[in-house]
Amino acid sequence: MPKVNKLKTYVVVSRILVMIMVIAAIFILFTMRKTTCEPGELPEKYIHEPTVTRFDPGVFEQRRKDILASLDADIVILSAGARHDFRYLTGFPERRGIAVIIPGHEKEYLLFVTPREIYTVMWTGEVYGLEGAVEKYGAEAAHGMDDFNEMLPGLLKGKKNIYLHGDDNRITDAVENVLIETGQQAEIRELATVLHEHRVIKDDWEIAHLKDAAEVTVKAHQYVLQTVQPGLAEYEVQASIEYIFRRNGMAPGFSSIIGSGPNSCLLHHTSNDRILEDGDLLLMDVGAASRGGYTADVTRTIPVNGRFSPEQRKIYELVLKASDEALKKMKPGHQMLDCHHLATEILVEGLYDMGLVPDTSSWWQKRFYIQHRINHYIGLQVHDAGDYGFDTDNRNEHILTPAIRGREIKTGMVMTNEPGLYFMVGLLDGIHEMFGHLATEEELNAFVETVRPVYEKYEGIGVRIEDNILITEEGNMNLSRYAPRTVEEIEAAMR
Ligand code: GLY
Ligand code: MN
Ligand code: MN
Repeated sequence: MPKVNKLKTYVVVSRILVMIMVIAAIFILFTMRKTTCEPGELPEKYIHEPTVTRFDPGVFEQRRKDILASLDADIVILSAGARHDFRYLTGFPERRGIAVIIPGHEKEYLLFVTPREIYTVMWTGEVYGLEGAVEKYGAEAAHGMDDFNEMLPGLLKGKKNIYLHGDDNRITDAVENVLIETGQQAEIRELATVLHEHRVIKDDWEIAHLKDAAEVTVKAHQYVLQTVQPGLAEYEVQASIEYIFRRNGMAPGFSSIIGSGPNSCLLHHTSNDRILEDGDLLLMDVGAASRGGYTADVTRTIPVNGRFSPEQRKIYELVLKASDEALKKMKPGHQMLDCHHLATEILVEGLYDMGLVPDTSSWWQKRFYIQHRINHYIGLQVHDAGDYGFDTDNRNEHILTPAIRGREIKTGMVMTNEPGLYFMVGLLDGIHEMFGHLATEEELNAFVETVRPVYEKYEGIGVRIEDNILITEEGNMNLSRYAPRTVEEIEAAMR
């Protein structure tokens, strides 16, 4: 080859090599950016920027206006003793405080708060004080907590309809004492019912908080899928999850439930001290609470080793089907329990096919597996305040009674969708204790004998899939949908 051509080939080849190296370097840098980080640094994908302010005076002013419009109140008094309701009405985040609202008064909205004194701050941390109550929290006048009792007779003077909160004993006692001492004729009415009804339908600000909380909770679940392995303790998984919460400026909204293996069947397991074993399922029921106080409540159940066993998969797919079908009924136009009854029907049908419910007309045979209903409101509390249109305290009454459908589902409600099945170790042996009052010894023994060979295959498997659902005009939005929830999604995320 002539020298010139040789040189040209050399130049072209070296240019191509340089280009390949540059492309490779860019590729390596790009992938490194996504997968590695400095010690103490968290990959960007686990960080969520809040979309809403921690407090908005306009939102709370509107809220107080709306509540007053549904009361015939001459005065409303509520203290931080009624924790979440006080927070809902005022946004004031301190442990102590009293709100007084006097409609039509020159100063309608008063806050009594802890004054900002140097020793208080030194021992208990920063407080907003009287100044903060006015400037940040919108009070038209603020006073020290200690001034309340002295000012109360003047505040109550001439007021006929006095709204107080049933959980607020100190305030109720103080008001009653004034009425007795002065002989003033007045009626004390309950604020909680009206306030709770307002809390059922979330405003846009609350929805933004719940979305942020769900988003951070989803990220925690995603993080665990990448980090979980046999040999870790449940509390280490808890620490990983709560690390993601804290890293995003949030805190757990309730005690994290981290149940591995047989603990996955314990509904409110919170000791979280078992070591995860190869072959276990791991049930994680957790929720981050936003700085505004709104909590998510999201459960995922995953195989510790990254692969569902055939038995685990069978139960998981059944619960998932119940969840998917129930979601279709979480829409305006349906009643609160329609989704629960549909989910229950699907679960019981699946259990019947597996030979676990020999007689589907037997209440107790179904109740043996169906432990809880699938929906509750979320908000400032994980089981948020508000009426459901049925007696929530008597589970035995509504849980298997399709005729009890509850109130209508409305746009702006935010609720969970959380079907679950739990094959607790030893539960079959407890059947006489559970249903001895409903069935004869022979009936119970016959059930145990028929069911045991199948039940034993699933013993120790507990599955709950819990999502947070915002009801919209068109239907609903699953706020936790990006936490992997199908078998394929979970196994792929763990590979
Ligand atoms: N985390 C409690 C519940 O799911 O209701
Ligand atoms: Mn829940
Ligand atoms: Mn939960």
